[in-house]
Amino acid sequence: MEIQVIAYVFRSELKSIMSYTDMQGICIKSARYNRTSHVTGFMIECGGVFLQALEGPEEAVGSIFRRIVDDRRHHHVDLLLSNEGLRRRQFGVWALNLMFLDDPLLWHRVVGSLSSYDDFLERSQDPVFALGLLSLTYRFACAATGIDPVTVGVKRGRIPRARHMLRQ
Ligand SMILES: Cc1cc2nc3c(=O)[nH]c(=O)nc-3n(C[C@H](O)[C@H](O)[C@H](O)COP(=O)(O)O)c2cc1C
Repeated sequence: MEIQVIAYVFRSELKSIMSYTDMQGICIKSARYNRTSHVTGFMIECGGVFLQALEGPEEAVGSIFRRIVDDRRHHHVDLLLSNEGLRRRQFGVWALNLMFLDDPLLWHRVVGSLSSYDDFLERSQDPVFALGLLSLTYRFACAATGIDPVTVGVKRGRIPRARHMLRQ
C-alpha cells in the first residue's frame, strides 16, 4: 500500500522518423528523471505512435506530462485516461520502459491476434484499447525478463537495462 497515486494514459505521434536506439535513449533519460520524482511508467511504440502510461504523485505526474506536451520531437499529445486516487500501481516495475510493437516475438505473442498494424493506429485513440494493450505488453515484458509485475517499495521504478528493453 502506498499514498494515493494518479495514472495517466496518453498517446502521441513522432514528428519525424527516429531510430530505435534514439527512442531507447529518450526512454532511459526519461526514466532517470521519473525515478527522482517517484514516477513509474511504461510505453509502447508502433509506426511513430506512442502509447504511454505514467503513475505517481499527482503533482509530479502533472508536471512531467506538461514537459512531455512541450517536447517538439512529437505532437498530438492526447490524454486518453486520468485515474486518480489509486492505491496501487499497475506499471510499477520501471521508472519508464519502452517496447516496440513491431518486435516479432511481441507481435506474435501479444498484438497479432488483437490487431493489424492499421487497426492499431486507429484503435490506439480508444482509452480502453490503449490501456489493455499497455497492460498486456507490460506483462509480456515482465515475463520475458523474469520480473514480478507486482511491485512494492524499493522494487519499484527501475531504470531499464538493455536486456529489459528486448529489442537490442
Ligand atoms: C514519447 C516521449 C515520452 C517521454 N516521456 C518522458 C517521461 O516519462 N518523463 C520525462 O521526464 N520525460 C519524458 N520525455 C522527455 C520530455 O519530453 C523532455 O524532453 C525531458 O523531460 C527533458 O525536458 P527539459 O529539456 O525541459 O529538461 C518524453 C519524450 C517523448 C518524445
